[in-house]
Amino acid sequence: MITLITGATSGIGEQLAKQYASAGDTVIACGRNQEKLNALGQFDNIQACQFDATDIQQIRLATAAYPDLDRVILNAGNCEYVDDARNFDSSLFTRVVTTNLLSMGYCLEALLPKIKPGGQLVLVSSSVTYLPLPRSQAYGASKAGVSYLAKSLAIDLNDIDVTLVHPGFVKTPLTDKNDFPMPMAVTAEKAADYIIKSVAKRRKEVHFPYRFTLILKCLRILPLSLWLKLAKGLTR
Ligand SMILES: NC(=O)c1ccc[n+]([C@@H]2O[C@H](COP(=O)([O-])OP(=O)(O)OC[C@H]3O[C@@H](n4cnc5c(N)ncnc54)[C@H](OP(=O)(O)O)[C@@H]3O)[C@@H](O)[C@H]2O)c1
Repeated sequence: MITLITGATSGIGEQLAKQYASAGDTVIACGRNQEKLNALGQFDNIQACQFDATDIQQIRLATAAYPDLDRVILNAGNCEYVDDARNFDSSLFTRVVTTNLLSMGYCLEALLPKIKPGGQLVLVSSSVTYLPLPRSQAYGASKAGVSYLAKSLAIDLNDIDVTLVHPGFVKTPLTDKNDFPMPMAVTAEKAADYIIKSVAKRRKEVHFPYRFTLILKCLRILPLSLWLKLAKGLTR
C-alpha cells in the first residue's frame, strides 16, 4: 500500500508516517522542514517529499512523479488564536484559513486524480468544530470548513472512501504553546493508533479520545444561547 501524508514532519502526521511504515506501507511523508524530512527519509519505507501545502505549483511539481496512491491523509495544519476579537486581525485569519482549509483544496486538485479506485482519503479536522470556543474564530472556522469539505466529498466521491478525523487535544508542538489546560490530552502515538485503526475499518468519522469528544457532542445539543453563556466562563 502507498500512503501519502501531509504534515508528516511533526506531531500526529509524523507518528502516522512511522506507524504506517513500520506496518509495511510505503509512506510518502510531506512537509516543508527539510531537516525533518531528511531524518524521516532514513526510516525504512519512508520517502520524503517537500512542498508548501499552500502553494499549488509546489504540490504539483513535488508529487508529479508519484505512482497511484492507496491512501492520502491531509493532516498539515497550524493553529493561531485570536487574542483581541474586537480588533480583528484579518492577516492572522487569512494565514490560518489558508494553511488549514485552502491547502486542502490545492492538495485535492493535485492528488485526487492519483488515488486508485477503492482508495482512501483522510481529512484531519478538529473537535473544535463541535462547539464554538473562545479565541478560536480563525482555527475553528478553518476546521469547520474542513469538516464540511470531507462530509460533502464523501457524498460525491463514489470510488474513494473518505474518513473525517476529529481529534481532541493531542500533545504535539502545535499544542505545546497552549497556555490553558488541555483536558484528556493524548500522545501523538495514541492519536495515530486511533486514526490508523479507524481508517483500516473505513470509518466515516474518527473522534478521540472518546470520553472527551462524547462530552463535546452532548454539549452540542444545548441551545446556543446557553452554550455561549457557559463558554464566556472559559475566557481568560
Ligand atoms: N494537536 C492537537 O491537539 C490537534 C487537535 C485537533 C486537530 N489537530 C490537527 O491535526 C493536524 C496535525 O497537528 P499536530 O498537532 O500534529 O501539529 P504539528 O506537530 O504542529 O504538525 C503540523 C504539521 O503540519 C505541517 N504544515 C504546517 N503548515 C504547512 C504548510 N504550509 N505546508 C506544508 N506543511 C505544513 C508541518 O510541517 P512543516 O513545518 O515541515 O511544513 C507539520 O508537519 C493539524 O491539522 C491540526 O490542526 C491537532
